[in-house]
Amino acid sequence: MMSIPKARLVVLISGNGSNLQAMIDAVQSGIIKAKISAVISNKRDAYGLERARKAGIPVLVLPKMKEQTREEYDAQLAQAVQQYAPDWVILAGWMRILSMHFLRHFPNRVVNLHPALPGTFPGTHAIERSYEAFQRGEIQETGVMVHLVPDEGVDAGPVLAQTQVKMLPGDRLEDLETRIHQSEHRLLVDTLVQIISKEE
Ligand code: GRF
Repeated sequence: MMSIPKARLVVLISGNGSNLQAMIDAVQSGIIKAKISAVISNKRDAYGLERARKAGIPVLVLPKMKEQTREEYDAQLAQAVQQYAPDWVILAGWMRILSMHFLRHFPNRVVNLHPALPGTFPGTHAIERSYEAFQRGEIQETGVMVHLVPDEGVDAGPVLAQTQVKMLPGDRLEDLETRIHQSEHRLLVDTLVQIISKEE
């Protein structure tokens, strides 16, 4: 029986890759009906690369060279990603802002995960900043979101999914981080299942 060609995902990472690991596990268990065609990192020492190697997924390390402009790097990265002909490009702990020199190659196909609710705490250290806002009594809860990246807006694209994450008075930062990352892993997998099944 002809098997349905699986959606092809390329995942961009910069660090630990716990969200990548959640994707790898969900692909291997058949929850996500897709193939992770490659994992690309801008950081040679990203542990997520090790996770990909263990899963037999092709990896590529593409650090930005000092003499490269952002545009040159983004164009080079786009070329590398295009080699794998992805249906979706997933930013899972990718810590560089992507310009249109990258994004224009994958219109409406770049998906980002951010550990905050839409319109709150864009950019880096979002969890720390939400924790400090909670300590100051400015917010009662936070959350995570998965959104499209149509342009250079930082953590501001059309939201595909979001979920609240509770904040407790006794929380230390690491308690909130753990709770947020657990929510991220679940939300990312659930959202990928949805967007992939819509295209079957
Ligand atoms: C996650 O919180 C992700 O949303 C943010 O950076 C963290 C990376 O986590 N961009 P990991 O590398 O997937 O473990």
